[in-house]
Amino acid sequence: MSLQNKSILITGSSMGIGKAMAYQMCEQGAKVILNARNEQRLNRTYEEMKSKGYEVTAVAGDVSAMEDCQRIIKHAIDQFGQLDAVVNNAGISMEGTVEELDPEVFQKLMDVNILGSIYPTKAALPYLKKTKGSIIFIGSAAGIRGIPNHSAYSASKMALTALAESMKIEMKQSGVHVGIAYVGFTQNDPEKTIYDKDGNIIPQPSREFIKAEPPEKVAQRVINMILKRKFKEVFTPLGKLNAFMNRFFPFVVEPILSRNYHKNKA
Ligand SMILES: NC(=O)c1ccc[n+]([C@@H]2O[C@H](COP(=O)([O-])OP(=O)(O)OC[C@H]3O[C@@H](n4cnc5c(N)ncnc54)[C@H](OP(=O)(O)O)[C@@H]3O)[C@@H](O)[C@H]2O)c1
Repeated sequence: MSLQNKSILITGSSMGIGKAMAYQMCEQGAKVILNARNEQRLNRTYEEMKSKGYEVTAVAGDVSAMEDCQRIIKHAIDQFGQLDAVVNNAGISMEGTVEELDPEVFQKLMDVNILGSIYPTKAALPYLKKTKGSIIFIGSAAGIRGIPNHSAYSASKMALTALAESMKIEMKQSGVHVGIAYVGFTQNDPEKTIYDKDGNIIPQPSREFIKAEPPEKVAQRVINMILKRKFKEVFTPLGKLNAFMNRFFPFVVEPILSRNYHKNKA
């Protein structure tokens, strides 16, 4: 299998990992539907890719609104006639303890990270069944083990596992492939933002002390999952170590997380 002529929707693809996936998929012959909310940035990415000769289209919309998702999928079908994969990549993170977080932050995270993966999937399913295509959920290492100061993000990403596991069995007869990628620390787009404890949008704090993977590498790993129709993949050596240790030696992982958390809070 190759991506040649495959029509692929990547939600949240105006920057960061989504944009890197769009580039690499187009490079491998796919037709990509770009999406994000901010039209200016989305159009910038669209024009940039179009000028390189890639087959792309762009549709602005919020994945946490079902009407927008139906419109996004309609746009994809109108443009390319079919849909071979949806990568549920749009997502947002946060910082703050459960005690100090404004309850709205939990709502926002669930809206984008969970409902924003469910709605595009539901709108796309009739078309993905026709092509026996792929649905990919972009999870996180924080979806394997809850991370202090990132409870809402961890909870939202952990819920994606349940979603993917349920769907994998439900979709078996249809031939639709379901996959979940546990993405590790990735080099951030300079424009990346997150929610602070009060629900304000702030620039992503620097994480230079962490060894992060380039988004292009993440993109290649996701493409590999689509081509090989893989179910669960944990990215990065640190992510794999985290998954292994958390499964077999959780009593070792907790003190490490605890020490880092209290050191950073101090
Ligand atoms: N970076 C990491 O280290 C890392 C690690 C593990 C997992 N991940 C996951 O990988 C995915 C991408 O992360 P990233 O770091 O590349 O993020 P990013 O740089 O912040 O980019 C997020 C993209 O999603 C779009 N977006 C956000 N909310 C949206 C919404 N409601 N509807 C439609 N589009 C929306 C953004 O554009 P607009 O704001 O214009 O909508 C942007 O294009 C996320 O699911 C994230 O949780 C990232």
